[in-house]
Amino acid sequence: MKTTTPSAVQLEDRPTQVAEIVAALTSVPRRIPSKYFYDETGSALFDAICELPEYYLTRTEAAIMRENAGDIAAEIGRGAALIELGSGSSTKTRILLDRLRSPAVYVPIDISEEHLEKSAIQLRSEYPELRIEAVAADYNFDFNLPRSVAGARTRVLYFPGSTFGNFQPEKGLAFLKRIRTLTGRRGALLIGLDWFKSTEVLEAAYNDSAGVTAAFNLNILSNVNRIAEGDFKSDSFRHYACLDEQEGRIEMYLVSNEQQTVSVGGTTIEIEKDEAILTEVSYKYRPEAFLKMADQAGFELERSWTDAERKFGVVFLRSR
Ligand code: AVJ
Repeated sequence: MKTTTPSAVQLEDRPTQVAEIVAALTSVPRRIPSKYFYDETGSALFDAICELPEYYLTRTEAAIMRENAGDIAAEIGRGAALIELGSGSSTKTRILLDRLRSPAVYVPIDISEEHLEKSAIQLRSEYPELRIEAVAADYNFDFNLPRSVAGARTRVLYFPGSTFGNFQPEKGLAFLKRIRTLTGRRGALLIGLDWFKSTEVLEAAYNDSAGVTAAFNLNILSNVNRIAEGDFKSDSFRHYACLDEQEGRIEMYLVSNEQQTVSVGGTTIEIEKDEAILTEVSYKYRPEAFLKMADQAGFELERSWTDAERKFGVVFLRSR
Protein backbone atom coordinates (compact mmCIF):
# COMPACT_ATOMS: atom_id res chain seq x y z
CA MET A 1 0.00 0.00 0.00
CA LYS A 2 1.23 3.48 -0.86
CA THR A 3 1.53 6.12 1.83
CA THR A 4 0.51 8.91 -0.55
CA THR A 5 -2.92 9.28 -2.12
CA PRO A 6 -4.87 7.28 -3.11
CA SER A 7 -5.08 5.54 0.26
CA ALA A 8 -5.74 2.22 -1.40
CA VAL A 9 -5.43 0.80 -4.88
CA GLN A 10 -7.75 -2.07 -5.69
CA LEU A 11 -7.74 -2.07 -9.48
CA GLU A 12 -7.98 -5.19 -11.63
CA ASP A 13 -4.63 -6.32 -12.95
CA ARG A 14 -3.61 -5.84 -16.56
CA PRO A 15 -4.26 -9.44 -17.76
CA THR A 16 -7.81 -9.29 -16.33
CA GLN A 17 -8.46 -6.02 -18.16
CA VAL A 18 -7.03 -7.38 -21.43
CA ALA A 19 -9.18 -10.52 -21.17
CA GLU A 20 -12.25 -8.39 -20.48
CA ILE A 21 -11.55 -6.14 -23.48
CA VAL A 22 -10.92 -9.05 -25.87
CA ALA A 23 -14.06 -10.87 -24.69
CA ALA A 24 -16.18 -7.75 -25.25
CA LEU A 25 -14.66 -7.03 -28.67
CA THR A 26 -15.27 -10.59 -29.88
CA SER A 27 -18.85 -10.78 -28.57
CA VAL A 28 -21.94 -10.18 -30.73
CA PRO A 29 -22.47 -7.26 -31.08
CA ARG A 30 -18.89 -6.09 -30.52
CA ARG A 31 -18.52 -3.99 -27.40
CA ILE A 32 -15.93 -2.12 -25.34
CA PRO A 33 -16.85 -1.62 -21.65
CA SER A 34 -17.59 2.07 -20.99
CA LYS A 35 -15.23 2.24 -18.04
CA TYR A 36 -12.32 2.25 -20.52
CA PHE A 37 -13.29 5.78 -21.58
CA TYR A 38 -11.68 7.16 -18.46
CA ASP A 39 -7.94 7.30 -18.93
CA GLU A 40 -6.37 10.70 -18.30
CA THR A 41 -7.36 12.12 -21.70
CA GLY A 42 -10.84 10.58 -21.48
CA SER A 43 -11.45 12.01 -18.01
CA ALA A 44 -10.41 15.44 -19.28
CA LEU A 45 -12.66 15.08 -22.35
CA PHE A 46 -15.54 14.07 -20.08
CA ASP A 47 -14.97 17.21 -18.00
CA ALA A 48 -15.16 19.18 -21.28
CA ILE A 49 -18.43 17.41 -22.20
CA CYS A 50 -19.91 18.60 -18.91
CA GLU A 51 -19.36 22.20 -20.06
CA LEU A 52 -21.08 21.77 -23.45
CA PRO A 53 -24.30 23.69 -24.12
CA GLU A 54 -26.05 20.50 -25.33
CA TYR A 55 -24.98 18.40 -22.34
CA TYR A 56 -27.54 19.65 -19.82
CA LEU A 57 -27.00 16.79 -17.33
CA THR A 58 -24.10 18.08 -15.23
CA ARG A 59 -25.25 21.65 -15.01
CA THR A 60 -28.83 20.67 -14.22
CA GLU A 61 -27.71 18.28 -11.50
CA ALA A 62 -25.32 20.86 -10.03
CA ALA A 63 -28.14 23.44 -9.94
CA ILE A 64 -30.43 20.96 -8.15
CA MET A 65 -27.65 20.24 -5.66
CA ARG A 66 -26.98 23.93 -5.05
CA GLU A 67 -30.62 24.83 -4.63
CA ASN A 68 -31.28 21.99 -2.21
CA ALA A 69 -27.89 21.64 -0.53
CA GLY A 70 -29.28 22.41 2.92
CA ASP A 71 -32.08 19.84 2.61
CA ILE A 72 -29.76 17.21 1.21
CA ALA A 73 -27.19 17.76 3.96
CA ALA A 74 -30.00 17.48 6.53
CA GLU A 75 -31.05 14.11 5.07
CA ILE A 76 -27.46 12.89 5.27
CA GLY A 77 -27.23 14.03 8.88
CA ARG A 78 -24.20 14.62 11.06
CA GLY A 79 -21.16 12.37 11.38
CA ALA A 80 -21.75 10.50 8.13
CA ALA A 81 -19.20 8.72 5.98
CA LEU A 82 -19.72 10.01 2.47
CA ILE A 83 -18.58 7.47 -0.11
CA GLU A 84 -18.59 8.61 -3.71
CA LEU A 85 -18.57 6.18 -6.63
CA GLY A 86 -16.81 7.48 -9.74
CA SER A 87 -15.74 10.70 -8.06
CA GLY A 88 -13.86 12.17 -11.06
CA SER A 89 -13.07 15.77 -10.13
CA SER A 90 -15.55 15.76 -7.20
CA THR A 91 -17.10 18.98 -8.52
CA LYS A 92 -20.67 18.38 -7.33
CA THR A 93 -19.40 16.87 -4.10
CA ARG A 94 -18.02 20.24 -3.04
CA ILE A 95 -21.59 21.53 -2.85
CA LEU A 96 -22.28 18.80 -0.27
CA LEU A 97 -18.96 19.07 1.54
CA ASP A 98 -19.60 22.78 2.09
CA ARG A 99 -22.83 21.92 3.93
CA LEU A 100 -22.24 18.61 5.71
CA ARG A 101 -22.19 18.69 9.50
CA SER A 102 -19.02 17.09 10.90
CA PRO A 103 -18.64 14.34 8.32
CA ALA A 104 -16.59 11.37 9.60
CA VAL A 105 -14.78 10.79 6.34
CA TYR A 106 -15.05 11.39 2.59
CA VAL A 107 -14.12 8.38 0.45
CA PRO A 108 -13.79 9.21 -3.26
CA ILE A 109 -13.62 6.04 -5.37
CA ASP A 110 -12.51 6.20 -8.99
CA ILE A 111 -11.08 3.94 -11.65
CA SER A 112 -8.65 6.61 -12.91
CA GLU A 113 -5.78 6.59 -10.45
CA GLU A 114 -4.07 9.72 -11.80
CA HIS A 115 -7.27 11.71 -11.82
CA LEU A 116 -8.16 10.54 -8.32
CA GLU A 117 -4.76 11.44 -6.97
CA LYS A 118 -4.88 14.93 -8.44
CA SER A 119 -8.35 15.70 -7.16
CA ALA A 120 -7.63 14.26 -3.69
CA ILE A 121 -4.61 16.56 -3.35
CA GLN A 122 -6.70 19.51 -4.47
CA LEU A 123 -9.55 18.62 -2.07
CA ARG A 124 -7.16 18.25 0.87
CA SER A 125 -6.01 21.83 0.39
CA GLU A 126 -9.59 23.09 0.14
CA TYR A 127 -10.91 21.08 3.09
CA PRO A 128 -8.00 20.77 5.55
CA GLU A 129 -10.32 19.63 8.37
CA LEU A 130 -11.89 16.84 6.39
CA ARG A 131 -10.63 13.28 6.53
CA ILE A 132 -10.25 12.08 2.92
CA GLU A 133 -9.45 8.50 2.04
CA ALA A 134 -9.32 7.93 -1.70
CA VAL A 135 -9.70 4.44 -3.12
CA ALA A 136 -8.67 3.57 -6.67
CA ALA A 137 -11.10 0.83 -7.60
CA ASP A 138 -13.55 -0.34 -10.21
CA TYR A 139 -16.89 -0.30 -8.41
CA ASN A 140 -18.19 -2.91 -10.85
CA PHE A 141 -16.29 -5.39 -8.70
CA ASP A 142 -16.17 -5.82 -4.94
CA PHE A 143 -13.92 -3.40 -3.11
CA ASN A 144 -13.07 -2.76 0.52
CA LEU A 145 -13.98 0.44 2.32
CA PRO A 146 -11.36 2.13 4.51
CA ARG A 147 -11.54 1.20 8.19
CA SER A 148 -12.53 4.74 9.22
CA VAL A 149 -15.94 4.18 7.61
CA ALA A 150 -16.91 1.65 10.30
CA GLY A 151 -16.75 4.35 12.99
CA ALA A 152 -19.18 6.72 11.23
CA ARG A 153 -22.76 7.21 12.41
CA THR A 154 -24.13 6.37 8.96
CA ARG A 155 -22.86 5.51 5.55
CA VAL A 156 -24.10 7.45 2.59
CA LEU A 157 -23.15 6.23 -0.85
CA TYR A 158 -23.13 9.04 -3.40
CA PHE A 159 -23.51 8.09 -7.06
CA PRO A 160 -24.07 11.29 -9.04
CA GLY A 161 -23.97 12.12 -12.73
CA SER A 162 -26.45 9.51 -14.00
CA THR A 163 -23.56 7.09 -14.21
CA PHE A 164 -26.01 4.45 -12.99
CA GLY A 165 -27.50 4.77 -16.50
CA ASN A 166 -24.51 2.84 -17.87
CA PHE A 167 -25.85 -0.39 -16.35
CA GLN A 168 -28.16 -2.72 -18.23
CA PRO A 169 -31.25 -3.26 -16.02
CA GLU A 170 -30.19 -6.64 -14.54
CA LYS A 171 -26.70 -5.32 -13.85
CA GLY A 172 -28.21 -2.19 -12.33
CA LEU A 173 -30.34 -4.20 -9.93
CA ALA A 174 -27.38 -6.38 -8.93
CA PHE A 175 -25.34 -3.22 -8.39
CA LEU A 176 -28.01 -1.65 -6.16
CA LYS A 177 -28.14 -4.84 -4.09
CA ARG A 178 -24.38 -4.74 -3.65
CA ILE A 179 -24.55 -1.07 -2.65
CA ARG A 180 -27.28 -1.98 -0.17
CA THR A 181 -24.85 -4.32 1.60
CA LEU A 182 -22.29 -1.48 1.79
CA THR A 183 -24.69 1.04 3.31
CA GLY A 184 -25.88 -1.30 6.06
CA ARG A 185 -29.34 -0.81 7.63
CA ARG A 186 -30.53 2.81 7.80
CA GLY A 187 -27.70 3.84 5.53
CA ALA A 188 -28.49 5.73 2.37
CA LEU A 189 -27.89 6.12 -1.31
CA LEU A 190 -27.90 9.56 -2.90
CA ILE A 191 -28.11 9.07 -6.64
CA GLY A 192 -28.33 11.37 -9.67
CA LEU A 193 -30.43 10.15 -12.62
CA ASP A 194 -31.26 11.53 -16.03
CA TRP A 195 -35.03 11.37 -16.56
CA PHE A 196 -36.54 10.22 -19.85
CA LYS A 197 -37.36 13.10 -22.21
CA SER A 198 -37.66 14.11 -25.86
CA THR A 199 -35.53 12.48 -28.55
CA GLU A 200 -34.22 15.86 -29.75
CA VAL A 201 -32.89 16.94 -26.37
CA LEU A 202 -31.43 13.51 -25.59
CA GLU A 203 -29.76 12.97 -28.95
CA ALA A 204 -28.29 16.48 -29.04
CA ALA A 205 -26.61 15.83 -25.68
CA TYR A 206 -24.64 12.96 -27.25
CA ASN A 207 -24.00 14.61 -30.63
CA ASP A 208 -22.61 18.00 -29.68
CA SER A 209 -21.73 20.39 -32.47
CA ALA A 210 -18.17 20.94 -31.20
CA GLY A 211 -17.42 17.23 -31.60
CA VAL A 212 -16.20 16.71 -28.04
CA THR A 213 -18.37 13.63 -27.52
CA ALA A 214 -17.01 12.19 -30.77
CA ALA A 215 -13.44 12.76 -29.52
CA PHE A 216 -14.38 11.20 -26.16
CA ASN A 217 -15.85 8.15 -27.88
CA LEU A 218 -12.87 7.71 -30.24
CA ASN A 219 -10.37 8.13 -27.38
CA ILE A 220 -11.50 4.80 -25.93
CA LEU A 221 -9.55 3.16 -28.77
CA SER A 222 -6.27 4.79 -27.67
CA ASN A 223 -6.86 3.54 -24.15
CA VAL A 224 -7.63 0.05 -25.44
CA ASN A 225 -4.46 0.18 -27.57
CA ARG A 226 -2.42 1.11 -24.51
CA ILE A 227 -3.92 -1.47 -22.14
CA ALA A 228 -4.18 -4.37 -24.59
CA GLU A 229 -1.37 -3.56 -27.04
CA GLY A 230 -3.91 -2.97 -29.77
CA ASP A 231 -3.43 -1.29 -33.13
CA PHE A 232 -6.80 0.42 -33.56
CA LYS A 233 -6.58 3.46 -35.84
CA SER A 234 -9.02 5.96 -34.38
CA ASP A 235 -9.30 7.83 -37.70
CA SER A 236 -10.82 4.73 -39.30
CA PHE A 237 -13.89 4.93 -37.04
CA ARG A 238 -16.66 7.48 -36.59
CA HIS A 239 -18.84 8.42 -33.65
CA TYR A 240 -22.54 7.49 -33.71
CA ALA A 241 -25.12 8.02 -30.94
CA CYS A 242 -28.88 7.53 -31.02
CA LEU A 243 -31.87 7.03 -28.75
CA ASP A 244 -33.51 3.62 -28.50
CA GLU A 245 -36.94 4.77 -27.41
CA GLN A 246 -38.22 1.30 -26.55
CA GLU A 247 -35.29 0.57 -24.27
CA GLY A 248 -35.24 4.14 -22.98
CA ARG A 249 -31.55 4.55 -23.55
CA ILE A 250 -28.94 6.36 -25.60
CA GLU A 251 -26.59 3.99 -27.40
CA MET A 252 -23.15 5.10 -28.44
CA TYR A 253 -21.14 3.30 -31.10
CA LEU A 254 -17.87 3.51 -33.02
CA VAL A 255 -18.61 2.68 -36.64
CA SER A 256 -15.85 1.37 -38.90
CA ASN A 257 -15.21 3.53 -42.00
CA GLU A 258 -13.65 0.60 -43.82
CA GLN A 259 -13.14 -3.13 -43.73
CA GLN A 260 -10.13 -3.66 -41.49
CA THR A 261 -8.07 -6.10 -39.46
CA VAL A 262 -7.22 -5.12 -35.90
CA SER A 263 -4.95 -6.86 -33.45
CA VAL A 264 -5.75 -6.51 -29.76
CA GLY A 265 -4.46 -8.50 -26.77
CA GLY A 266 -2.87 -10.96 -29.22
CA THR A 267 -6.22 -11.63 -30.91
CA THR A 268 -6.93 -10.68 -34.51
CA ILE A 269 -10.37 -9.35 -35.33
CA GLU A 270 -11.89 -8.67 -38.73
CA ILE A 271 -14.15 -5.65 -38.76
CA GLU A 272 -16.51 -5.01 -41.68
CA LYS A 273 -17.10 -1.62 -43.25
CA ASP A 274 -19.94 0.08 -41.28
CA GLU A 275 -19.74 -2.50 -38.50
CA ALA A 276 -20.45 -0.88 -35.15
CA ILE A 277 -18.79 -1.37 -31.76
CA LEU A 278 -21.07 -0.55 -28.81
CA THR A 279 -19.17 1.63 -26.34
CA GLU A 280 -21.95 2.90 -24.09
CA VAL A 281 -25.58 2.58 -23.09
CA SER A 282 -26.99 5.46 -21.09
CA TYR A 283 -30.41 4.77 -19.59
CA LYS A 284 -32.92 7.56 -19.16
CA TYR A 285 -35.29 6.55 -16.39
CA ARG A 286 -38.89 7.16 -15.59
CA PRO A 287 -39.00 7.85 -11.83
CA GLU A 288 -41.50 5.04 -11.06
CA ALA A 289 -39.43 2.48 -12.96
CA PHE A 290 -36.29 3.42 -11.08
CA LEU A 291 -38.01 3.38 -7.68
CA LYS A 292 -39.39 -0.08 -8.37
CA MET A 293 -35.88 -1.31 -9.02
CA ALA A 294 -34.57 0.42 -5.88
CA ASP A 295 -37.34 -1.20 -3.84
CA GLN A 296 -36.30 -4.64 -5.11
CA ALA A 297 -32.79 -3.90 -3.86
CA GLY A 298 -33.99 -2.93 -0.36
CA PHE A 299 -34.11 0.84 -0.68
CA GLU A 300 -37.06 3.14 -0.05
CA LEU A 301 -37.56 6.67 -1.27
CA GLU A 302 -36.97 9.27 1.39
CA ARG A 303 -36.91 12.39 -0.79
CA SER A 304 -36.10 13.49 -4.28
CA TRP A 305 -35.37 16.77 -6.00
CA THR A 306 -35.63 17.89 -9.59
CA ASP A 307 -35.38 21.01 -11.77
CA ALA A 308 -38.30 23.06 -13.11
CA GLU A 309 -38.38 21.07 -16.37
CA ARG A 310 -37.93 17.70 -14.62
CA LYS A 311 -34.90 16.94 -16.72
CA PHE A 312 -32.80 15.41 -13.98
CA GLY A 313 -33.41 13.83 -10.59
CA VAL A 314 -31.43 13.68 -7.36
CA VAL A 315 -32.89 10.86 -5.28
CA PHE A 316 -32.27 10.08 -1.60
CA LEU A 317 -32.96 6.43 -0.79
CA ARG A 318 -32.82 4.92 2.68
CA SER A 319 -31.88 1.27 3.11
CA ARG A 320 -34.37 -0.91 4.94
C1 AVJ B 1 -20.91 9.67 -17.18
C2 AVJ B 1 -22.14 7.82 -17.99
C3 AVJ B 1 -23.27 9.73 -17.13
O1 AVJ B 1 -23.93 8.66 -20.11
O2 AVJ B 1 -24.15 10.81 -20.13
C4 AVJ B 1 -21.28 11.59 -21.78
C5 AVJ B 1 -21.03 9.59 -20.16
N1 AVJ B 1 -21.08 9.65 -22.65
N2 AVJ B 1 -21.33 11.72 -23.10
C6 AVJ B 1 -23.51 9.79 -19.89
C7 AVJ B 1 -21.13 10.27 -21.49
C8 AVJ B 1 -21.20 10.54 -23.63
C9 AVJ B 1 -22.14 9.96 -19.24
N3 AVJ B 1 -22.11 9.28 -17.90
